[in-house]
Amino acid sequence: MAVKHFMQFRDFTRDELGYVFQRTRIIKDRFKRYQPYHPLADRTLAMIFEKSSTRTRLSFEAGMHQLGGAAIYLNTRDTQLGRGEPVEDAAEVISRMVDIVMIRTFEQDIIERFAAHSRVPVINGLTNEYHPCQILADICTYIEQRGDIQGKTVAWIGDSNNMCNTWLQAAEILDFNVHVSTPPGYEVEPERANLFGTDHYESFADPIDACRAADLVTTDVWTSMGFEAENAARQEAFADWQVDADMMRVARPDTLFMHCLPAHRGEEVAAEVIDGPQSVVWEEAANRLHAQKALMEYLLLGRIEK
Ligand code: CP
Ligand code: NVA
Repeated sequence: MAVKHFMQFRDFTRDELGYVFQRTRIIKDRFKRYQPYHPLADRTLAMIFEKSSTRTRLSFEAGMHQLGGAAIYLNTRDTQLGRGEPVEDAAEVISRMVDIVMIRTFEQDIIERFAAHSRVPVINGLTNEYHPCQILADICTYIEQRGDIQGKTVAWIGDSNNMCNTWLQAAEILDFNVHVSTPPGYEVEPERANLFGTDHYESFADPIDACRAADLVTTDVWTSMGFEAENAARQEAFADWQVDADMMRVARPDTLFMHCLPAHRGEEVAAEVIDGPQSVVWEEAANRLHAQKALMEYLLLGRIEK
């Protein structure tokens, strides 16, 4: 049977995502009640990082531990991958030693080549193109706070980056709308976002217009990891795309604000928004832990009735 991976959001159907959201709630609830739950005893997760991380590393490592398994952190700089060992060879070897692999890297092609040679499930912990684990946690957070996301409107302000692409994929699968506003020259590239083409997003020249009547306003850094050389140009181009109180005001009174973090107050978001009453960024970060536990449980054990 083909191994199931989570390399981009559309690797899961609406039904599978619904199951993972439901498991996230159950697993989180048990954790909050201090009930041990060790379905992944004796299972090992390898985490391969080619870019920096705080939340992704911590949530996968702590999550695997809490499910009874073990996690091994590999930084490509300290492995033979950093000295030119082919990713296909690394996949053949690593997947014979562990039960599941998470990779944070540059091009999506790298993780796909790894998965093609892996005997075990591969999870995308962020690539230049996508950040599916983050959107899993973000949507769990939305559901927890406000209920079903179907039919709702998410305003994406800023760069058409890995986060934006993943929101767009999620909108098609879960049937909600995304209002996107990017500076000229940084628009969504539908092919790179790998959309089904179901028109679940609309582009707005003015970020204020994108935020009107939105149920959720969200943004991310102006310069993603790997694009540091473009930082100066981006600071200039994105100056009018800071999520501020005026943008939140034209949304709804109960509109949520999310940011995957790390954030730069005074750049992509005003301090009064990220630290304000509509912001759920800490809940969002915490849900990485629970959503990824549900994801690993599903990839390793399939659907369970517990
Ligand atoms: N949001 C997120 O993925 O954070 P890290 O880069 O700290 O893992
Ligand atoms: N878009 C950001 C997300 C960081 C979690 C990046 O890729 O650097």
